Amino acid sequence: MMYFDYRFMEVARPIIEHEQYQEIRKIKHHDESVYDHSVKVAFYAYQLAYKHGLDWKSTIRGALLHDFFLYKFKKSFSLRIITDSIKHAIVHPLIAFDNASKYFDLNEKEENIIKAHMFPFGFPKSKEAWIVSYVDKYIAIFEYASNFKKMAARKQPAYTAE
Ligand SMILES: [Fe+2]
Ligand SMILES: [Fe+2]
Repeated sequence: MMYFDYRFMEVARPIIEHEQYQEIRKIKHHDESVYDHSVKVAFYAYQLAYKHGLDWKSTIRGALLHDFFLYKFKKSFSLRIITDSIKHAIVHPLIAFDNASKYFDLNEKEENIIKAHMFPFGFPKSKEAWIVSYVDKYIAIFEYASNFKKMAARKQPAYTAE
């Protein structure tokens, strides 16, 4: 699928093959790596942008880099999880943009796609930015559900009925 779409890959390749970008393969996010999540968001957002005649190149680049943070967000099961989660939601788009702009030359639209993807923590200024924010949330729901299922399965006691 995405790796066979020449239009998508032409724009995505310089980013996804970048040494620093490869680092996010090691960072877990929802149910998979930040890398898998970001490539997936970029591909679905690109399909929507392309279909609607929008700036699909900026959509791909912004989406690929929307979570370009190089740390694992640790969830602790305490009251702090709420404040920590809000802090992470506000801060990680800014960190992602800081990192992205170190290695890639981004236009204004791409900058806003990254910084505003956690709407309502940030405001998307283009249709492309709205698309990325929407696709990111949509995909995250499935990733969370799949992660939750795996966690629940692991907690089940080993039980075999005969
Ligand atoms: Fe994010
Ligand atoms: Fe994301």
